[in-house]
Amino acid sequence: MFALRIIKSTNNFVNSLPKTARKIHKHNVLYNNKPEDLLNLVIRGESLQFPYVWLRENCQCEHCYHTSAQSRILDWSKFDLNVKANEVSESENSVRIQWSDGHTSQYNFNWLKFRSFTPENQKKYTETIYKPKKETWHGKDFSNILYKRDYSDIVGSEEALYEWLHKLSVYGVALIKNTPSSETAVDGVVDRIGFTKRTHYGIKFVVQHVQNTSNVAYLSSTLQLHTDLPYYEYCPGTNLLHYLVQTVSEGGENLLSDCHYTANYMKQHHPEQYKLLTDVEVEWSDIGTEFGNDFFKLHRAPVICLDCHGEIERINFSIPQRGSHFPGPIELVKPWYEAHSLFWDLNHQFAAKFKAESGDILAFNNIRLLHGRSAYEDSSNNVRKIIGAYIDWDEIYSRLRCLKVKLKNEDGIC
Ligand code: OGA
Ligand code: ZN
Ligand code: ZN
Repeated sequence: MFALRIIKSTNNFVNSLPKTARKIHKHNVLYNNKPEDLLNLVIRGESLQFPYVWLRENCQCEHCYHTSAQSRILDWSKFDLNVKANEVSESENSVRIQWSDGHTSQYNFNWLKFRSFTPENQKKYTETIYKPKKETWHGKDFSNILYKRDYSDIVGSEEALYEWLHKLSVYGVALIKNTPSSETAVDGVVDRIGFTKRTHYGIKFVVQHVQNTSNVAYLSSTLQLHTDLPYYEYCPGTNLLHYLVQTVSEGGENLLSDCHYTANYMKQHHPEQYKLLTDVEVEWSDIGTEFGNDFFKLHRAPVICLDCHGEIERINFSIPQRGSHFPGPIELVKPWYEAHSLFWDLNHQFAAKFKAESGDILAFNNIRLLHGRSAYEDSSNNVRKIIGAYIDWDEIYSRLRCLKVKLKNEDGIC
């Protein structure tokens, strides 16, 4: 079976291959592959390269990989970083390698192809399995990007749930219509995805006018554009707001702004202010008592938090929940306020205005969008009541991937 092509892994063979090694310049160090570090394969007509060190570490045999735990169990203390392939033999659907450490590994071609190191394949995997690519939007396009599904579809159809979660991750907002009028209806959606993130406001929370409130959201006055809970280091990723009863009077309207759009705009047109918002840490805070439990939450972070690629990881923004301690140098205070003010103005300029209806569940990315609400009048014949729950992005992305594997099964994903 493995007699089709026996390749002695010699330098002659390696040298005869095209030079496709990429040079990567990072942190003032130039990294590049030596030809002898890579296995060259042609899989269904495509020339692909795999580093030997990676291949050896990702051996799928029962000594190196636990099938039911789907986890590597290889003993790192015995791992040879400079392991060599003594012999490589290919069959129709797989390749077998005899290693210099005496071990033998076999790799299925679909499995390898799925993990190919080409930039195109890495991009495809990133966007189809890792995390769907976000698309930014301006408020004028809100009606086009807002994806709506009926509650019965979301709880009854995996295809509908997948589509809805996918849109939520791409645009950071999606809507559920015709939710049953029950305080537990939102649980049906949560259960389909995973579980809620509990905070000091409860496993779920009720947004309703309360006179001596523990949080300004529980007033009927204007709720300025904000993210919820910026004072959490592990900030809940997504809000699910079930409008059990929406106010029948004027007001109580939603304002939503995609900060990825705003931040990109600032980066392009106001780079100095953008830098202040990405670099200067401020302190987010929530201090008080809820359900008889006292809390004192503080978290320091910039308004725009970037990851190692310079992409936005998280937005923090809240007028009421930013503390009065400014942790940075005094010289930065005024410039930071100016940048903050510009961010505020731009978000209002780019925001979408709409009014959720009774029976809607409005879901939005709490670390990407700003949300707000206009003031409303609360009286005995005009009540407004929202049941809210938070779900982390870890759970949403996990559900998306599980559904993707189940609904669009492709050999080699796992
Ligand atoms: C909140 C909130 C929105 C609304 O409670 O934090 O943003 O429509 N509520 O009342
Ligand atoms: Zn093995
Ligand atoms: Zn809020």
